[in-house]
Amino acid sequence: ALPKSFRVPLPVPQVARPVSTAGGVDRYEIVQRVAEAEILPGLRTQVWGYDGRFPGPTIAGRSGRNALVTIRNELPVPTSTHLHGGVTPPDSDGYPTDIVVPKGWRHAPADSGMSHGGMHVAADAWSVSDQAKEYVYPLIQQAATLWYHDHRMDFSGPQVWRGLAGFFLVRDDEELTLPLPDGERDIPLMLCDRAFEENGSLRYPSLDPSLKGRPGVEESYMNGVMGDVMLVNGAPWPELEVTATRYRFRLLNASNARRYRLRLEPGGPLTQIGTDAGLMARPQELDAITLAPAERAEVVIDFSRWKPGTAIRLVNTLGKGRMREVMRFRVTRKVRDESHVPARLADVQPLTGARVAATRTFDFRLTWNSDGSSIWTVNGRPFAPDRSLAAPRLGTVERWRFTSDFYHPVHLHLAHFQVVARDGQPPGAHERGWKDTVDVRPYETVDVLARFQGYRGHYMLHCHNLEHEDMAMMANFHIT
Ligand code: C2O
Ligand code: CU
Repeated sequence: ALPKSFRVPLPVPQVARPVSTAGGVDRYEIVQRVAEAEILPGLRTQVWGYDGRFPGPTIAGRSGRNALVTIRNELPVPTSTHLHGGVTPPDSDGYPTDIVVPKGWRHAPADSGMSHGGMHVAADAWSVSDQAKEYVYPLIQQAATLWYHDHRMDFSGPQVWRGLAGFFLVRDDEELTLPLPDGERDIPLMLCDRAFEENGSLRYPSLDPSLKGRPGVEESYMNGVMGDVMLVNGAPWPELEVTATRYRFRLLNASNARRYRLRLEPGGPLTQIGTDAGLMARPQELDAITLAPAERAEVVIDFSRWKPGTAIRLVNTLGKGRMREVMRFRVTRKVRDESHVPARLADVQPLTGARVAATRTFDFRLTWNSDGSSIWTVNGRPFAPDRSLAAPRLGTVERWRFTSDFYHPVHLHLAHFQVVARDGQPPGAHERGWKDTVDVRPYETVDVLARFQGYRGHYMLHCHNLEHEDMAMMANFHIT
């Protein structure tokens, strides 16, 4: 039996404590391990968590200040940790074949042979760290809501599903001068759906549930895996008590495949202040915000517009039945609120005036093999670690066009971009700002202007439907 809605208080993930802050560097040590959590009241669920937690601890980063995060892998399988939205040097970027293997791990067939996408990963494509790796995050980037999650070749879907995801917030001086709600009224909300067995264990349709052998999901999950329980910060349909003041919420769609169109019921505005990779130039009052997998939106909700005692639900109008419900806010009492949302938030330079160094098209679609089977591809080919589709030059801006046959949320590592057109029309109000993931819908053409800034080296773009990603819907680009 599924839990009743709005009975569980919303948990807020703990903020990670650095082990040292000496020399202008924040050092963290995080252990990936198997743990038990009570997700459904009264039942025990085994999760794979950063520090045994789902969501993982929130890392509070500061723009321009180095964060060094040592990830120790005590799980039964390899991992690769990607800081999503991070401007990160290539060897710390969580490339799918840069794996951290657990003690005693021997290369299983899946790690040297055929991946689910049908392509061959050569033995020399793997870069293997034994038990731990130090990831370097220089954070030369503006304030934003980033997140970290697993990115292991062929297995990101099941490994994120088991719990390997957490927030990484970057703050900067410009943001800290703004009178936005903060402290206990600045809350990250990780939205994801999951399915459970009767005994409380997570249910995922892996071909090999050990995740040690053959990758992939059962044939009928070609479009991605969805659950029938809605979790926010790892709790089912939770409730948050709020005072009649403004709150800042950092919304993240951490689902493998589910899309959201979020609104308040019975109604009320969502004041959007941020997109994936930073604050917007100006706030926008919206009554709904769409989020594809991996997209973020920061919003301020002013609960002083409701009387104490009022309950307001956050709903997903793309969900049906109980999956239409996300969580509930209950207004407790009036208190003084000195925060407000200023008319100007951040300096967002539009790229529309920039010189465009190149224009490239990436087609995300299903491709049929000669034997009648089908695979998810970028420009007709499945991912191969040694094949690169583009070589943008460091410091340039390029126009990238994405075309699609389905819902494919397209994510670029390293490069932030601005959406300039959807089928030739202006982008939605909720995506006017710095982005790293864009919701590309069936048969749509989306144009973005991407800025290749930060580091030279190999990076990737891919579909962030995690099952598509695991079915090799990824490609490399190389910054020169
Ligand atoms: Cu959030 Cu390459 O992923
Ligand atoms: Cu896709």
